[in-house]
Amino acid sequence: MLKIGILVSGGGTNFQAIIDAISSGKLTDTEIVTVVSSNPNAYALERAKKHNINAICIRKKDYATDVLYQQALIDHMKEKEVELVVMAGFMVVIGSLFIKEFENKIINIHPSLIPSFCGNGYYGLKVHEAALKKGVKITGATVHFVTEETDAGPIIMQKPVAVLEGDTPEQLQKRVMEQAEWDILPNSIQLFAHHRLKVIENHVKIC
Ligand code: GAR
Repeated sequence: MLKIGILVSGGGTNFQAIIDAISSGKLTDTEIVTVVSSNPNAYALERAKKHNINAICIRKKDYATDVLYQQALIDHMKEKEVELVVMAGFMVVIGSLFIKEFENKIINIHPSLIPSFCGNGYYGLKVHEAALKKGVKITGATVHFVTEETDAGPIIMQKPVAVLEGDTPEQLQKRVMEQAEWDILPNSIQLFAHHRLKVIENHVKIC
């Protein structure tokens, strides 16, 4: 059984997609052992409560330094014996201490086809605003391993989604979530849980 720890900041629909995938049997041999929110008001915390999943809020601003914050996250994940960290709508840029501790054991969902509309400053609705501003006809979502450079780690899965005439950022965000994110995030965890992901020279091989 793979023990996963989920990092969230907001609504938690990707977290919900993981819960649903476990319930439906699409995601197997995986157990959510903790949910950590950066925001005490995140609806994701309510979702955790409803499903009897252990949840906690750990805020960067409650720590004197970034290193102490990262250490608190590490200590919590270790205490829960987390084997894979899943960033599911986590809006904090995480530092190198945490990333080194869980090398090739942290995955993130990003709401675009990386390398488009990613990196520092591209998160949540801002990603969809940028895609609409550019006028792309196709966007999508990406699941990747987390490395020190934001959104630049080895890509596990991507799925395209059409941009439609007259889309608002909110409409596009919803379509990308429904058609791509909630599918490829559980699917990527399923591959990890079954030891099917190998990272070779910054590329992911699915075996
Ligand atoms: C999702 O679209 C996710 O891809 C994005 O934030 C949203 C969170 O929604 N993540 C990022 O932008 C990270 N750079 P959720 O809380 O409902 O899962």
